[in-house]
Amino acid sequence: MSHDIVLEGNVFIQDSFHQCCIGIDDGRITAVKKILKGDVHHRFSKKVLMPAGCDIHVHFRDPGLTQKETFQTGSTAAVYGGISCIFDMPNTLPQTTSISILKDKINTASRSMLCDYGLYAGITDHNFKDVIEIARMAQGFKIFLGSTTNSLLLSPLKLPLVFEMLAQTKRPVLCHAEDAKCLKRTQRMEKDLKDHHRSRPPLCETTAIKDLLRARADHDVPLHICHVSSKDSLDLLKDRPTKITYGITPHHSLLNIDSLPLSDTRYKVNPPLRPKEHMHALFEALSKDQADVLESDHAPHLLKEKNEEFNTAPSGVPGVETMIPLFIYLAIKEKISFSRLIDLTCVNPAKLTGIRKGSLKVGFDGDIAVYDLRHISTVCAEMLHSKAEWTPFEGYNAVFPTNVFIRGSSVIEDGECIRRPGFGNQVRTREDND
Ligand code: DOR
Ligand code: ZN
Repeated sequence: MSHDIVLEGNVFIQDSFHQCCIGIDDGRITAVKKILKGDVHHRFSKKVLMPAGCDIHVHFRDPGLTQKETFQTGSTAAVYGGISCIFDMPNTLPQTTSISILKDKINTASRSMLCDYGLYAGITDHNFKDVIEIARMAQGFKIFLGSTTNSLLLSPLKLPLVFEMLAQTKRPVLCHAEDAKCLKRTQRMEKDLKDHHRSRPPLCETTAIKDLLRARADHDVPLHICHVSSKDSLDLLKDRPTKITYGITPHHSLLNIDSLPLSDTRYKVNPPLRPKEHMHALFEALSKDQADVLESDHAPHLLKEKNEEFNTAPSGVPGVETMIPLFIYLAIKEKISFSRLIDLTCVNPAKLTGIRKGSLKVGFDGDIAVYDLRHISTVCAEMLHSKAEWTPFEGYNAVFPTNVFIRGSSVIEDGECIRRPGFGNQVRTREDND
């Protein structure tokens, strides 16, 4: 039998690379074997074939903040970074908090996206009663317990009721864990990154995490704690129940305030970057099988917006395009294993969101990224595709994909995007299929 498409190369299967073929029909993987025949046969020889990544945490700013990013520019950046699917956050304008706003967002996304996508709805003090209805249109929910860029807030007192309703939707909920009351006590005038760290200390993160764990205790809701930033929180989450997951960003695990120019607003982000012992603990949680997900928290702001006085400059860094390429380089250098990297960026994000992606196995989407591990490049803002036009990782080593396939179709070919906006589909999840 001949498959629609066959990709041949050094394929990552069960913990290591094997020279073999992947057969794809109607967008799905139908065979993985030493030799396969295809109507179209791509030979990648010694290049490595890995599942394309899924970034469960991006802010593409569409609608309302499109000077910073759009679905089109954000998803272009994603595919150039080896990502075939993103999940977009609700702190856009208007905020994604109702069915009608979700419908508008889906309309724009379906015309603009280059990769596949899911959308989160925000749960606030004002819409929390509508959670079950909203769940029909959103792939998951986001709760902010502390305020950040254009954020929507939920009072921790409402958490028990919200978890009770979420239990009926089966959708995952992702949480920005910084407690608003705690922040109110600790927030101060900020002149630099050290002030920012003290203004939003680890204590406010652990306070929020404790509240979340308490409120979720009686409900079987998939709960994901976003961008854990401190070793204190890692300790709290060490023996977490199943279905409670947490993510770490590239910036929190690779950057720290002991070795950055302190007054540089570009590195202002929520939760803040911390002293180096936190960064080391976070990287170790990624490499040593503790953390569940590597998520970019891609939060683009223009340089002219960032270049305000420290105290008023917006928080957030771009990162969707550099996340996997930076970590592939670190995998080559044996700082993290390829197997961990694939769990963190492909397998676990797909499990958490319920999509059939992230594994090179029969039945999964043909979402595949191809890398030449001998071709190490240096990150520079000019080569990236976000509207932010800057990166906190300027000068870092990275390996970008030469080719990316989504549902068996070539999207990046020899380093160039060959698809038009609108190629990306909204994902269907386990819950949609039930
Ligand atoms: O620094 C941040 N920026 N943290 C967030 O949680 C939101 C993000 C943004 O949207 O700019
Ligand atoms: Zn975020």
